[in-house]
Amino acid sequence: MAASRPPQVQELLAEARRAFREEFGAEPELAVSAPGRVNLIGEHTDYNQGLVLPMALELVTLLVGSPRTDGLVSLLTTSKDADEPQRLQFPLPTVHRSLEPGTPRWANYVKGVIQHYPDSGAIAARAQVCQRAEHSFAGVPCGIMDQLIALLGQKGHALLIDCRSLETSLVPLSDPKLAVLITNSNVRHSLGSSEYPLRRRQCEEVARALGKESLREVRLEELEAGRELVSKEGFRRARHVVGEIQRTAQAAAALSRGDYRAFGRLMVESHYSLRDDYEVSCSELDQLVEAALSVPGVYGSRMTGGGFGGCTVTLLEASAASRTMQHIQEQYSGTATFYLSQAADGAKVLCL
Ligand code: GLA
Repeated sequence: MAASRPPQVQELLAEARRAFREEFGAEPELAVSAPGRVNLIGEHTDYNQGLVLPMALELVTLLVGSPRTDGLVSLLTTSKDADEPQRLQFPLPTVHRSLEPGTPRWANYVKGVIQHYPDSGAIAARAQVCQRAEHSFAGVPCGIMDQLIALLGQKGHALLIDCRSLETSLVPLSDPKLAVLITNSNVRHSLGSSEYPLRRRQCEEVARALGKESLREVRLEELEAGRELVSKEGFRRARHVVGEIQRTAQAAAALSRGDYRAFGRLMVESHYSLRDDYEVSCSELDQLVEAALSVPGVYGSRMTGGGFGGCTVTLLEASAASRTMQHIQEQYSGTATFYLSQAADGAKVLCL
C-alpha cells in the first residue's frame, strides 16, 4: 500500500506562475513556500506556556506575488478542493482604516497577517503576528506552535519549542531506518471549534486557582495537593497538560539518543491522556491509533493537533510502513489517507 505523494514544490510553483500570469498578465516577482506541520508530542501545551515537539512537512502552501502601487491587495487562490479559483480585492489598511474579518472566510487569515504585519520584527515577533491573525481574524485562540515550526523548521530535524521563553532547539530526525506516518482520519467533528477555547479557559482557571501564571509553573504534586481548589474536570485537564509537558521533555531526550522505543511509549501515554483526561480524541482517532499499535515495527502512535478528528502520527520502522498502512486501512471504519514525510524546512523565499 502506498502513501499519497505530496506535490513537488517545483510543480506547484509552475502552476502558481501560470495562474498568476493568466490573472494579472505579468510574471510574479516573488515566490515563497510555507510547510504544513505535524506535532510529534506536546499536545495542548503551547497555550499553557509548555513544550512542544513538531516537525515541518514536505507538504507546502505556495504563494507568488508582485507589489502594486495603487494601495490595493488582489488575492487569487487556486485549490484542488474548490472547482473554481477564488478572488478577492481590498484596500491596504491605513492608520485610519483597519481590515476586518468577514467573507470569504478563506481570506481572513491572509487579511489578519496583512493587518498585523507592520508590528512584526524578529522571527519570534513574526510568529506572534501570525498568531494574532489567527486569534483576531480566524477566530482560533491557538498557541504559538504552528507559527514557530512553520518559520523555523529545518530539514532532518524536529524542533523542541519552549512556548514560555520561545527558545527553540533542533533535534535530529533523519535516521533512514525510521519513518513518520501521518494518517488522516478524514473526519472533523464540529465540536472542536467550541471545545478548543473551552479547554484553554479551563487550563487558565486551574492555573489561577493554584496561584500560578500558567500550568507550566505547576508540578504534579502541587496539582494533587490543590485538588480541592479546582473542579474534577479542571483537575483532569491540568493533569494532562502537566504530564504532557514532562513527556515532551523526555521524548526530546529519547529522540536525541535514538531511543525510539522510549519515544513511542511516551506517544502512546500522550494519546491515552488526551483521550481520557483532556477528552479531545474521538472514536475514529482511537481506532487509527489502536490499529497502528498492533503492527510489529510500530514504536508509537497518537492523535496529533487539536483533536476531534484530523490526523494521527505514528513513529515506526521504515520497513514496516507498507504493512502498517494496509492494516490500519483494514481496521478503520472510515477511509484513511496516508502521508510519509521527512522532516522538512520551514518557510522560505524561492528562486524564480
Ligand atoms: C491547534 C493549535 C495549536 C495547538 C494544537 C494542540 O493545532 O493551532 O496552537 O494548541 O491545536 O496542541
